[in-house]
Amino acid sequence: MRKLIALVLAVAMMLVVAGCGGADEKKADGDKQIKMGFSQIGAESEWRTANTESVKQAAKDAGIDLQFSDAQQKQENQIKAIRSFIAQGVDIIAFVPIVETGWDTVLKEAKDAKIPVIIVDRDLKVEDDSLYVAKIGTNMETEGQKAFEWLNKYVTDNNVKPHEGDKLNLVILEGTVGSTAALGRTKGFGDGLAANADKYNVLASQTGEFTRQKGQEVMESFLKSYGNKIDILFAHNDDMALGAIQAIEAAGMKPGKDIIILSIDGVKGIFQAMIEGKANCTVECNPLQGPLLMETAKKVLAGEKVDKVVYVEEGVFPADVAEKVMPERKY
Ligand code: AHR
Repeated sequence: MRKLIALVLAVAMMLVVAGCGGADEKKADGDKQIKMGFSQIGAESEWRTANTESVKQAAKDAGIDLQFSDAQQKQENQIKAIRSFIAQGVDIIAFVPIVETGWDTVLKEAKDAKIPVIIVDRDLKVEDDSLYVAKIGTNMETEGQKAFEWLNKYVTDNNVKPHEGDKLNLVILEGTVGSTAALGRTKGFGDGLAANADKYNVLASQTGEFTRQKGQEVMESFLKSYGNKIDILFAHNDDMALGAIQAIEAAGMKPGKDIIILSIDGVKGIFQAMIEGKANCTVECNPLQGPLLMETAKKVLAGEKVDKVVYVEEGVFPADVAEKVMPERKY
């Protein structure tokens, strides 16, 4: 009898333990925290810092475990990071492609491991579009177009005349070679220039790698070569424009007056420069992509359909609205 009671108790205990375990596993599955591997390209600009902060904050707000990796401006580091995310078995991978090409192999590895990939900020070119589930970013070509449209209207409305000759002379500071941000902006702005070749002349166009320091150095060399001939500077980002402003002032010229300064991003630094009369216009490139990224990741993992490409909203801010708009700027 005692043996029988002991057996019944043992079986009952086993059932209770098994029951508890089952309930826990179910809960753990349902509430399982999403693990996202995110490869950022670096910290080259004020814009990039805002982009990183947006992603980190949005992950926190969404309860997503973010594995963040900084590639220090090297594609090979991004590829290594993506491979390490695959090895860790993260639920989803997101990354900013530093350049457009060279991603097919590593994205195929992610696909084979059944890990969905979301592209953030910059675009890429792969042979098979199913290697990523969605792209969230900005339309860089449109930004270049908007920059040219603003410039063309500004010089017409203000009857801007060249310092020398019969065409307005431009210098251009380009972004990272091979990046969508540089390629798209070159195309959008370049189409406008090509259609108005009787009015504009490009003296020089060179990369400033999206950094303030390089922007300053390259502008110094432009000034050495062309000096007073330069009427307009178009910089692919605000940081390079801010570096160039220092070079122009050091050369004894007035940025924003002697040279029209036009750039892309819309960071607080350029708003301050516009308020001080040292820059003329910025075309917005919105870095606050974190919330949309987290929302998209959750939908993808829940098996919901998402848009393949989503571009965030962007405006154009000339100097005359800078003071009014500055207090509302979030980055
Ligand atoms: O990809 C977006 C560009 O990269 C921003 O214009 C620039 O500031 C950044 O570094």
